[in-house]
Order: sequence, then C-alpha cells, then structure tokens
Amino acid sequence: MLVIGITGSPGTGKTYFSKIVQDRFKNVDLIELNDIIRKRKAFTHIDKNKVMTADIRKLNRIIKEQLKQFSEAERKTGKRKVVIYVGHIVPELNIKLDACFVMRAHLSLLAKRMAARRYSQEKIKENLISEAVDYCGTKAKNISKKIYEIETYAEKKGALRILEDLLKDKTLGNKHEAASKKVIDKMPELLKMIKNKNIYKF
Ligand SMILES: Nc1ncnc2c1ncn2[C@@H]1O[C@H](COP(=O)(O)OP(=O)(O)O)[C@@H](O)[C@H]1O
Ligand SMILES: [Mg+2]
Repeated sequence: MLVIGITGSPGTGKTYFSKIVQDRFKNVDLIELNDIIRKRKAFTHIDKNKVMTADIRKLNRIIKEQLKQFSEAERKTGKRKVVIYVGHIVPELNIKLDACFVMRAHLSLLAKRMAARRYSQEKIKENLISEAVDYCGTKAKNISKKIYEIETYAEKKGALRILEDLLKDKTLGNKHEAASKKVIDKMPELLKMIKNKNIYKF
C-alpha cells in the first residue's frame, strides 16, 4: 500500500490540486478528511466560520480502521492500493505517510480566498500566521520522511511527476531528493504585512 498526504493551510488549493491528481491517476483513492469528519461526525464543534473542529481521536480511529480494510482488500485482490488523504489536518494523523505534499500560497492570496469564504478577520489572521510559519509542513515532518512543498505551476507539475514515480515504485521517490529539501519561506511577507498597516491588526 502507498499512503500519501496532501496538506496545507485552508485556501492553499488542496482540493483544486487533488482534482488534477484524481484526473491524472484514476486508480488512486483520494479521500478528503473533511468528508469523513462530516459523514462520520468526527468533530467536536462547528465554529462561526462554518469550520469543523475535528475530533482527532475519533478521526484517527476511523482512519486506522479504514487502512486495515484497504490492506485486507489489497491482500485479497493482490493489487496494490494507493490512498491519498487530503486536509489541513493530515499532519495530526497518527499514521506514517510515504510522502506528503504541502500546498503553499502567498499570504495576500490566501487572505483573499479566506475572505471569499467569509471567514472572520480573526480566523484569517490565525491562518495567515500558520501559513507564514509553515505549520502544516513542519508538523508533517512527524509523519512523513518525504515532504514536498508546492506553490508554483512548475512545482505542481513536478509534484505530478513525483507521484507518477512513487506510483510505479516507492523507492523512485528517492530520485526527487532535491525537491523534498526545498523550503518556501513566507516570513518576509508576514513581516511586510506587520510593518505596513493591515486590517488584521498583527
Ligand atoms: N492553481 C490554482 N489556480 C486557480 N485557482 C486556484 C488554484 N488553486 C486554488 N484555486 C482556487 O482557490 C480557492 C481555494 O482552493 P481550494 O482547493 O478549495 O483550497 P483548500 O482545499 O486548500 O482549502 C478555490 O476557489 C480554488 O478554485
Ligand atoms: Mg479543500
């Protein structure tokens, strides 16, 4: 079995990118954690931004059970299963990933996308700080040795090539060592935002 993650702050384009991945690799099981959280009621509450706070212990139990079933199906059919979990909460999962893609985006772009979702200023500020300090990418290191941060069109194309190789053979991921070492630094943009007057009152 190959278990991969796609994570990143809200609005970085996880769902958008996942659709491209699903289109390209038809035999992949792409699972949005938010769908599981909603369907299985694995949340503690829904805030005023309509964002669910996951019940992480419950979610971990569900995922563990799901992976067990996938692994049984794999044994029965003799066909390797490829599972991709998508969500900003992926790094909190109590599993090991073969690789994790971290979607990144300019803070100004994220702020616009979150405003379009009618997030409160407080929520936008919180998520901009998370993005600036690369919260998802840093946490993802706990569950995946291979982390690929992606933002540009070229990086997205690169990510598809990495996935293609991983799907052929896990060890082919080693070919992309340089891409897994690349870090995207958003701190200068945050500092600029703090220095200039901004509506988030940093
Ligand atoms: N590469 C892209 N090009 C154009 N629009 C994008 C791109 N990535 C994301 N978007 C848009 O940004 C918004 C947020 O993307 P989404 O995939 O829903 O983010 P996430 O799932 O990470 O919260 C959506 O309206 C989406 O269509
Ligand atoms: Mg999404």
